[in-house]
Amino acid sequence: MHIDILTLFPQMFNDVFNYSIIGRARERHLVDIRLHDIRAYTHDKHHIVDDYPYGGGAGMLLKPEPIFEAAESIKEELGFSSVPTVLLSPQGRLFNQKIARQLADYQRLILICGHYEGVDERVIEHLVNDEISIGDYLLSGGEIAAMVVVDCVVRLLPGVVGSEVSLVEDSHTDGLLEYPQYTRPASYRGWVVPSILLSGNHSQIARWRRQQSLLRTAKRRLDLLEKAVLSEEDKKLLDEVRF
Ligand code: 6GU
Repeated sequence: MHIDILTLFPQMFNDVFNYSIIGRARERHLVDIRLHDIRAYTHDKHHIVDDYPYGGGAGMLLKPEPIFEAAESIKEELGFSSVPTVLLSPQGRLFNQKIARQLADYQRLILICGHYEGVDERVIEHLVNDEISIGDYLLSGGEIAAMVVVDCVVRLLPGVVGSEVSLVEDSHTDGLLEYPQYTRPASYRGWVVPSILLSGNHSQIARWRRQQSLLRTAKRRLDLLEKAVLSEEDKKLLDEVRF
C-alpha cells in the first residue's frame, strides 16, 4: 500500500512512523508512506497557505490552490488519475475499525491534514472523496488524526502484525472489549493473578475470559454490547456475574 500525506508539518510524523509496527512495516516495504509539505506547492514569495474566510468570521482557512496542486502532482507521479483522498477534519464521519478495514483494501491513499478553522469548501467538493474525524473533541490540526488512521490501517495490511490470532482476538473485531491479562509474577505486592489462569484448565480459562469480556463491555461500553451478537451461552455467562 502507498500512502501520501499532505500536511503543513511533515516533521511531526517522523518519530511516529519510524518505530514499532509502522516503522518495521515501512522497512519491510509492506507500506510506502510519503509526506508532502503543502507549503512547497505555493508560488508566492512568502509561501502563504491560508487566508481570511469570505463573509468574515474568526480564524483562517487553508487556501485551495496548494492542496489541489499537491494532490495532482502526487497522482501524476503515481500515474493514476483518481486516488481515494481523505480529509481529516472534525466535520468528518466518525472513524472506526470498519472504516480502517475499508481503507486497508486500497492500493493507494491520499490523506490531507486540515488546519486552522478549516479548508476551502472547494477542496472538499472537488478533490476529497471522504472526510474523517477521529472523535468528538477538537484537535489543533489533522496531523495526529492522520497518524491514528495510518496506524490502524497499516496494522491491518497482510504480514504487518505477526500472529493472525492477535488481530482476530483484539477488541473491536468481535465488538467486545478484551478480557484482563496477566504475566509473571503470580503475586506482586500481594496482588495475585486470578487462580483460574494458573489452573491449566483451558476450557475453564476460555469461559472465564469470555465472561470477563462480556462483563467489562457491559460496564464500560453498553453501546458495544447492544450491537454485539451474543450466543445463548454468552447471555448465561453475563447473567452469572451481572448485578
Ligand atoms: Cl480529523 N481534526 C481536528 N482538527 N480535530 C479532530 C479531528 C480531526 N478528529 C477529532 N477531532
